[in-house]
Amino acid sequence: MTDELASDADAVDVRRAPAMALPFDADSLTAPLRTERMTLRPIEPDDSDDIWEYQRLPEVLRYIPWPPRSREEAHVHTLKRAGMRRLAENGDAFHFAMVLRGERSTAPVVGDRHRDRVVGDVMLRISSTQHAQLELGWVLHPAFQGRGLAVEATREAVRFAFEVIAPHRLEAHVDVRNVASAALCRRLGMRLEGALVEDVWYDGWQDSEIYGLLRREWEAERAPTPA
Ligand SMILES: CC(C)(COP(=O)(O)OP(=O)(O)OC[C@H]1O[C@@H](n2cnc3c(N)ncnc32)[C@H](O)[C@@H]1OP(=O)(O)O)[C@@H](O)C(=O)NCCC(=O)NCCS
Repeated sequence: MTDELASDADAVDVRRAPAMALPFDADSLTAPLRTERMTLRPIEPDDSDDIWEYQRLPEVLRYIPWPPRSREEAHVHTLKRAGMRRLAENGDAFHFAMVLRGERSTAPVVGDRHRDRVVGDVMLRISSTQHAQLELGWVLHPAFQGRGLAVEATREAVRFAFEVIAPHRLEAHVDVRNVASAALCRRLGMRLEGALVEDVWYDGWQDSEIYGLLRREWEAERAPTPA
C-alpha cells in the first residue's frame, strides 16, 4: 500500500508517545498493595486524624508548599484527597495511604474496630498524558522516619505505577535543600536529571532538583542477573 492510500486508522501520530493505561480508577484495585511492613491503599476520609498528626508538623511542611492546617482544615483536605480516585488528565492525582500494620491509629476507636495507623502517604500525579509521564511524591511522619519505611512504600508505588499505569518515565521534584528526599530518590534508583532555578514560591523563591526513572531503567534493575 502506498502512503497515499494509507487510511487514517493506519496513520501513526508522531506526536503521541505510547499511551499510559488510562483512565485508572481506584475502584479497579481489587486488593490493597502489601509490603513487608505496610499496606498501601487509597486514602480514606477516616484517615484524617492520622494524617493531621504529621501534616501539622513544621518539619514536615518545610519543603512541601502546604499551609499549616487546623484539625478541621486537615479533615477537609483529606476528604478532598480521598475523593481523587481517578487518573485520566494532566494534573490528576491519586494518593496511597501508608498504613503501618500493627501500629494503632490515633483516630477514636469506633465500636471494637481498631484501625492500623496511617504514617504517611504516596502521591501519583499525571505530568503529561501526551508524553506518558508520571510524578511521584511522598511524606512520612517523622516519628517513623529512619526505618526504611518510605523507601519500602515508594518502591511498591513505583512498581505499581510502571506495571499498572505504564508511564515511560517517573519524575520527582525535590526542593534542593531537601536532602532526605534526594536520598530517597537515589534509593529508588532515580537519576538526578537537572535543576530548576526559583521555580517554586514557598516562603521565598526556591530551587528544585528533578529526579527521573525511565521504565527501561526500572525493568533492567529488576531483571535477574545472569548466573
Ligand atoms: C523524605 C522522607 C519520606 C524520607 O524518610 P526516611 O525515613 O529518611 O526514608 P527511608 O524510608 O528511605 O529511610 C532511610 C533511613 O532509614 C534507615 N534505615 C533503617 N532501616 C532501614 C531499612 N530496613 N531499609 C532502608 N533504610 C533503613 C536508613 O539508614 C536511612 O537512614 P539515614 O538517612 O540516617 O541513612 C521524609 O524525610 C519526609 O517525609 N520528609 C518530609 C516530607 C517531604 O519533604 N516530602 C517530599 C516532598 S518532595
